[in-house]
Amino acid sequence: MDRIIPKIAICPSHELAEGQYRKLKMRFEGREDECLLLRFDGKVYAYINRCVHMPRRLDCEQQTVFDHTGRFLRCSMHGIVYTPQTGASISTMCEGEQLRAVEVYEEGGEVGFADFRVTGFSC
Ligand code: FES
Repeated sequence: MDRIIPKIAICPSHELAEGQYRKLKMRFEGREDECLLLRFDGKVYAYINRCVHMPRRLDCEQQTVFDHTGRFLRCSMHGIVYTPQTGASISTMCEGEQLRAVEVYEEGGEVGFADFRVTGFSC
């Protein structure tokens, strides 16, 4: 039997502009965690804010998670670069390893979580 995935609304679509991101505190798999919610090339993505190299937040050393081009995510600790679309590292270090993706939806002018592992969040 298919599992019904509850949707949790986060914000109106217009509050997440192209190339921007928001950080959300959320309850994920029963624990407090931090999520990066971002829009890239018009699509919304979400990842746990934890580098694959060490358990550091991508913005631990700088106030952004995008690199200087705005085309990639970058961990400010040692510089691993990730594709926003997959969360996969394209750096030599940890090549191919992926940020943990969180399922999200965008419909009817609203963005939200559609992931049974998420049971709540705050901004
Ligand atoms: S902790 Fe992110 S690149 Fe090392």
